[in-house]
Amino acid sequence: MDTTEEFWETFYRDRDQVWTGKANELLVREVAHLAPGTALDLGCGEGGDALWLAEQGWVVTAVDVSTTALARGAARATEAGLAARIDWQRHDLGRSFPTGVFDLVSAQFLHSSVAPEGERESILARAAEAVAPGGVLLIVGHAEWASFQRHDPPVEYRFPTNAEVLASLKLDGGWVVEVDESVEREMTGPNGEHGTRADHVLRLRRT
Ligand SMILES: C[S@@+](CC[C@H](N)C(=O)[O-])C[C@H]1O[C@@H](n2cnc3c(N)ncnc32)[C@H](O)[C@@H]1O
Repeated sequence: MDTTEEFWETFYRDRDQVWTGKANELLVREVAHLAPGTALDLGCGEGGDALWLAEQGWVVTAVDVSTTALARGAARATEAGLAARIDWQRHDLGRSFPTGVFDLVSAQFLHSSVAPEGERESILARAAEAVAPGGVLLIVGHAEWASFQRHDPPVEYRFPTNAEVLASLKLDGGWVVEVDESVEREMTGPNGEHGTRADHVLRLRRT
């Protein structure tokens, strides 16, 4: 296993269930009005977004580096009768990427403190190439740590701004920026801590 796979596989294997299982609020806000088509969910984790998209009628390719996370998502999809609508694929996106183009390409909190320098930027640039004409690229990322989060020892990680993400996508002229904003929301942490966290939302449409 390389570092990325080892880190994320251990992260999931050491815990019963990491995320809430629900779709990310900002994904729902940005996608609920779109006509369903094909969707690619990059860094899908345990599949909360992929399941919600499939329920809305999307045909989803859900990708993560962790086999454990993918297996959890696949089990829930089977229970929900959605297995036929979601193709779970294991990739370390720094090394390989799913084939095809998609009406929606979504990266929700695709952060990794063990990613090599510049890797997130190149994955997101590759994500833009995978958007079909008329399709949407949705990148939602944290702007900062949650107000209650303390790391001991500190984690070296810098959250990029939307302007930095946009610049790194190296887009040609055929795109419209539909949403470029930062949102602060209240949240509850894994141990019941209450606090706030700011996130960046970037929604681009390929013309
Ligand atoms: C912070 S979590 C977010 C999970 C999910 N998108 C969500 O919003 O709940 C980041 C996810 O990206 C995955 N990931 C990180 N680096 C990756 C890479 N290079 N290739 C594929 N998946 C990766 C991790 O395994 C993890 O599930």
